[in-house]
Amino acid sequence: MSEATRKKVGVLLSGRGSNLQALLDAQADPRYPAHVVLVVSSKADALGLERAQRAGVATRVIPRRDFDSREDCDAAMSAALQEAGVEIVCLAGFMRILSKGFVDHWMDRLINIHPSLLPLFPGLDTHARALAAGVKLHGCTVHFVRLEMDTGPIIGQAAVPVLPGDTEEALAARVLEAEHRLYPHCLRLAASGRVNLVGGTAEIDDPGPRAGARLINPAP
Ligand code: GRF
Repeated sequence: MSEATRKKVGVLLSGRGSNLQALLDAQADPRYPAHVVLVVSSKADALGLERAQRAGVATRVIPRRDFDSREDCDAAMSAALQEAGVEIVCLAGFMRILSKGFVDHWMDRLINIHPSLLPLFPGLDTHARALAAGVKLHGCTVHFVRLEMDTGPIIGQAAVPVLPGDTEEALAARVLEAEHRLYPHCLRLAASGRVNLVGGTAEIDDPGPRAGARLINPAP
């Protein structure tokens, strides 16, 4: 697929950037239908910025404290994204709450990854809360962003088992590995026009012959 026909993606992050890395790794395949053209960080010392630079992707640091209001900060991010020709915005560990103006502007073109099986455990500390609740399956969700935090039409989810003796760190690592597979997969679906919004939900064209798949924990 030529650069011209791949969808241009902007990634917003605040830290480590391992999900950004998963997207960068996926786009190394020339058939991948999206490519990251700009990474915007809310923090100057985010490791994600180094990952972007290593991959030759343009970066911008746009910290909230440089602006009088959240709206002004978000307008600066939108301007940078538009200038780069961005068509889809991916949140990947972006630790600021976005304003209504930003969410409205990028409606249905703004995607997030969240480390739980939404609508369970929106917000922070999802792994500790999953352990405390005693759920036997946990995971991650890629979804279109709506104004209310960690809501919006779900594009895809990956489930992992919660195992006896799991610590928060062990569970987080298992989920993160799933995130790195799920995010590139869901972005591929969205960028190739296979995600249709119907009412409040996302329907996937031709989701594949997996109707019989089960993940049962504890295993029977
Ligand atoms: C991930 O767990 C993601 O689900 C959440 O923030 C974390 C970001 O990790 N939204 P990384 O910066 O991509 O490594």
